[in-house]
Amino acid sequence: MLEGKKILLGVTGSIAAYKVAILVRLLIKAGAEVKVILTPAAKEFVSPLTLSTLSRNPVLMDLVNDDTWQNHVLLGRWADIMLLAPLSCNTLSKMASGTCDNLLMAVYLSATCKVAVAPAMDEDMWLHPATKRNLQIINNFGNIVLPVDSGELASGLIGEGRMMEPAVMADWLKNYFSTGMPLSGKKVLVTAGPTYEPIDPVRFIGNHSSGKMGLAIALELEKRGAEVTLIVGPTSLDIPDYINTIKVQTAAEMFDVCVDLFPHVNIAVMSAAVADFTPVISAQEKIKKSDADLSIAFTKTKDILKYLGENKKLNQLLIGFALETSDEENYAKKKLIEKNADLIVLNSLKDEGAGFGYDTNKITIFDKLGNTHYFDKKSKKEVAVDIVNSIIQIL
Ligand code: CTP
Repeated sequence: MLEGKKILLGVTGSIAAYKVAILVRLLIKAGAEVKVILTPAAKEFVSPLTLSTLSRNPVLMDLVNDDTWQNHVLLGRWADIMLLAPLSCNTLSKMASGTCDNLLMAVYLSATCKVAVAPAMDEDMWLHPATKRNLQIINNFGNIVLPVDSGELASGLIGEGRMMEPAVMADWLKNYFSTGMPLSGKKVLVTAGPTYEPIDPVRFIGNHSSGKMGLAIALELEKRGAEVTLIVGPTSLDIPDYINTIKVQTAAEMFDVCVDLFPHVNIAVMSAAVADFTPVISAQEKIKKSDADLSIAFTKTKDILKYLGENKKLNQLLIGFALETSDEENYAKKKLIEKNADLIVLNSLKDEGAGFGYDTNKITIFDKLGNTHYFDKKSKKEVAVDIVNSIIQIL
């Protein structure tokens, strides 16, 4: 949900500065671009090397480095949000008074983006009227003041003033960016790729699904503010870290994960090409070549889409896929009813450039009200936009 978001993280001199290493890691994992500015005092608490390694960007500390001037105005314009964490009492006071004596303050005073702060100080400083006044002043400037936690403080005393935990801060940022987005607050499960059904330890029955369509849908849903879990069969896809991914091999494993997750999601998009049959017996040892022919007995796998359709609650949406080679529309409409789905996305193998392995697809979407929507051949990324638009429409 933070994919491509530019976060400028200002770190000031507080013992809580060591925790920003975890925060930076979480933000990068969530897909954000992070640049870190340290005040001179912050360097005493956290190493620039740690933060430059984790943020994958040089850590900025000085307005002038040798003969190079740091363009503080552009930094404030680069960012989608500037977050000062931890915010010390001293930097808070400078923000309130407009003091410009280091790079962080120069960037703050010229920043055109939203500014948020996560204060960290001992309780007595936190409760001092000067602190309260300064917080009120920066709040009036339009800065967002995040709440502090209670607990053990650097002084050893117990009280208010601990910096908000990094994981909570990362969640706050995700919410900040997704608020107002059409799928904000929605949890979505997406299945993608093939399943491999083992014959013996080295052989399997599979199919040509690349998982590209499912991944494109997961990325698009995430972009529109949804919290996505991608359940993916064996693929060579490069899945970004910020997509919460569960890897499975077989139809049975995919079934178990979907059944566990389904009660906790609002929407399920079943784009995986799940095997319909699996070998009755998977040999423990490699099957040796012999003169006789080999016959393998297959049994049906559990139909995940059908199971979810039977267990769907009124406030849940279920989207299924249909891949057909003949009489496509009738089969797709039949699937919509039989599987109790809200949408069926049909791709026909008859359409050139559509289906397994291609970067393009041509779909038709059938909804429960009897509407049929035809789409042109497009890139899978654009097809994902059409599918997510249809989901948003029926929400
Ligand atoms: N599907 C599933 N579990 C299975 C098989 C398929 O959840 N064991 C889902 C797919 O993810 C897809 C939809 O069912 O969303 C359609 O799959 P498809 O193979 O086209 O249809 P089937 O229902 O298996 O029927 P048929 O093979 O007769 O077309």
